[in-house]
This record gives sequence, C-alpha cells and structure tokens, in this order.
Amino acid sequence: MTNKKYQLGLVGLGVMGRNLLLNMADSGYAVAGYDKDPSKVDALAQEAQKHEILGAREIGEFTGALQSPKAILLLVPAGKIVDAVIADLLPYLDKGDLIIDGGNSYFADTDRRYQSLAAQGIHFMGMGVSGGAEGARLGPSMMPGGNREAFETVRPILESVAAHVNGDPCVAFVGNGSAGHYVKMVHNGIEYGMMELIAEVYDLMKRGLGLDNAAIAAVFDQWNRGKLASFLVEITAAIFTKLDDKTGRHLIDLIQDASRQKGTGKWTSQDAMNLQAAIPVIDMAVVMRDLSGYKAEREAAEKILGGAVKMPVEDSKAFISTLENALYFSFLAAYAQGFNHLRKASAEYGFDLQPATIAKIWRGGCIIRAALLETFMKAFQRNPDLPNLLVDPDVAKAALSVQRDARSVIKAALDAGIPVAGLSAAVAYFDAYRSERLPANLIQAQRDFFGSHTYERVDMAGTFHTEW
Ligand code: 6PG
Repeated sequence: MTNKKYQLGLVGLGVMGRNLLLNMADSGYAVAGYDKDPSKVDALAQEAQKHEILGAREIGEFTGALQSPKAILLLVPAGKIVDAVIADLLPYLDKGDLIIDGGNSYFADTDRRYQSLAAQGIHFMGMGVSGGAEGARLGPSMMPGGNREAFETVRPILESVAAHVNGDPCVAFVGNGSAGHYVKMVHNGIEYGMMELIAEVYDLMKRGLGLDNAAIAAVFDQWNRGKLASFLVEITAAIFTKLDDKTGRHLIDLIQDASRQKGTGKWTSQDAMNLQAAIPVIDMAVVMRDLSGYKAEREAAEKILGGAVKMPVEDSKAFISTLENALYFSFLAAYAQGFNHLRKASAEYGFDLQPATIAKIWRGGCIIRAALLETFMKAFQRNPDLPNLLVDPDVAKAALSVQRDARSVIKAALDAGIPVAGLSAAVAYFDAYRSERLPANLIQAQRDFFGSHTYERVDMAGTFHTEW
C-alpha cells in the first residue's frame, strides 16, 4: 500500500468509469479506481501507466488511499448495486465523507439514500452524468444535486473534467435532495422525445418520399449546420452513412425495428403524470418505443389493415425544408415540456431548480445538447419564472414562424398513414397551451352529470352541482 493520497475515488470501472478517471487524470488530478471485477482494475492499470491513477483491487486499499474527507464517485448500474456498493463502503467511511452516485438512479432511491446516509453523517449527492462513454472521456455534462457544501469540495475537479461551452463548464449544483437525478431523468425524457421526432422524420423521408440512406444522411447533415444543430441530428447523419462490416449493406437497414429502454423516459412520463405536468411529446416517445416492441403483431396487422403509402409530394426539396421546420417546431415543444415539467417538480419537491443553470449545463457534453439551448438559457436568464419556454418572446417568434410547416407535415403524414405521434403531440400541445378556452367545461359538466363531482363557474365564485 502506498502513502500517496488520492483526491477522488471512483467505483465502477466500466467504460464510463474508466474514461472519466482518465479524464480526471488528464486534468492533473490524482485519482483512484476500484471495481469488484479484477480484470477491470487490470484494464485500468494498463491504460493508466502515464497517469496518476491507482487501480485498487481491495476496497480497503482503495478507501485507505483517499485523502480525507473522502470523495467517492459511483458509476455503477442503477438499482440494488448502488445500495450494495454503499453498504460495502460504509465500514471504511468517516463522518463528513462524500459519496456521489453518478448513475441513472431513480430519484426516489436517491432521496432514500440521501436521508439514510445523512443520518450517519455521510454526505450523499445524486449526480446525473450525460454524454456516454465518449462524453466521459472528453467532457460530459454533469447535474449534481443534494448537498451544496459537499458539492463545493468536488466542484474544481468536476469543472475541470466537464465539457465547456464558451469557457463555461457544463456542470453546476442543480438543487436540493434528489434534484440531480431528477434533472437527468427529465433530460432523458427530452432525449426520448427528440429521438422519436427524428425517427418520425426519417420515416417520412424513407417511406413517404422514398429517399435512400445517402440522401437521408445528406439531409440530416445539412440540418445539423442550421437551426437544428444538435448532437442527436449530427449522429443521425453519421448513422445513415455507416456500412455493415459483415454484409457491406447499410447497417441501419439491418437493425431490428424494436427499440428498447432502460426506463428513464418511462419514469419521466410516470412522474409527470403524478405531478399533472403535461409532457405529451415525451409520453408519445415512450408509447412509440412500446409499440415498436409489438413487432410480430405489427407484421400480422399490416397484412390485414394495409400499410402506409408513399406521399404524393411533387417537390421533394421543398417538402424537406418543410420537414426541417416541423422538426424544429417539435424540438421546441419537447424542450418546453421538459422544462415545464422541471418547474412543476421543483415546486412540488422543493428542489429549487434554476432553469437558466440547467439550460446552461445542457449546452455541451450531454445527449440533448443543441444550439437551441443557448436561446433557452437566455430566455430563462431574462425571466427565471418563465412558466413555459413557448411564451418567451424569442421562442414564441421561432415557433410561430414554423408552426404552419409542422401542420402541413402532419397532414401529409396522416394522409399517407405514416405514424407521427410525436410531431402531432407537439402541435396539439402548442394548440392546447395557447387556447384561452378549452372544452374542459364539457368534461366538468359530464362529471357532474354522472357523478355529482361539482364544477366551478366563470361568472361567480364557489362550487356548484346541478340536477341534470
Ligand atoms: C446520457 C444517456 C444515457 C443512456 C440512456 C439510454 O445522457 O448519456 O441518456 O444515460 O444512454 O439512459 O437510455 P435508454 O436505454 O432508456 O434508451
């Protein structure tokens, strides 16, 4: 055992953990890594020769090598493993030490861990980390929440390794309790929404216009140079150029059309329902992933019900620019819903979230990074209490300038029988949100009619019931 003391310890030396450790070491920090799997420790040791990294095979060696108070970052799969690792670490920890959970943990689990560790004098932070393996190596976006003082002790190292945009690190303390994991959960909900919207636009180009993969790649590549500039549009362009090593064919055409999920998008929708936060684009993204899993039923149903038809588009070029605007409009709606959800969650759970800070740290490193985040950051800086991004003057102007195109794309898709649940939900949300009056008066009347559930009136205060 060495006498050298390391500034931060990381448990979980999968690709993400290893890359983040190397990133920290590159920034000049002395860091230690531990994993129950010795082969992962050996892999780290091989890569880490040039760095100040300790790869520890024993938990006691690992914790003993850390400077006090100890700061330990967990990058292990969410769920029971997090509890097991915490239980393994506890005998080696002292009051004032800090555990940071950097996985995609469910926020209620984070609250539970936060409270039980606080009772033992151990600080705990739930921290969303986005950007995948490459982000971990080159600069992720990180969303730490929990204890602000504890965050201050690790702020320098997190700021050094985070992605930077215009000199600002893509990490900041986001809020109290489980705020870090909550914000990451909603990040992933928005990610689901954007991925679904991009997938629908792909479907329209492929089945609707009959474009080949090279043409689709060129469209996404061009869009990524304009107002849709974003990580997800960028990687989509690259995906359509990739050829399969085994067959030489376009890989995209060989991938089964049934999407899986680890659950964060579903959690976003579930908790939005609990909070009565309306996030229909994200909900539809979850629903469409679920429907994609009905592969065998879909195959049988197409034989009975018929499938989509090509769209009778005369000018494909013009339609593609309409599509660009439709996707832009829907991206605005997806982000607006995500931020509105965060606003409601902050009020309900006491997170004290600052939306401008969240937009700021989502500008780089994370999966939903996009040029649009700069606009959103400015919108929330102007008005931190903005209830919905859509009513910010700049965002409203942007949405109004393209809403017609979103509508014409949906009309064309409906006629051709191509499902556009996400795009439609974006427009319906926009239309509902901007409706001074909705037909909910009728729903109230029906509820009162069959269940005496009472209603409020527009012309007088109080609660009323009518014998219909
Ligand atoms: C990120 C990603 C990351 C992960 C998703 C995948 O921000 O880096 O969101 O956390 O790739 O959780 O989620 P699904 O498996 O649910 O699609």
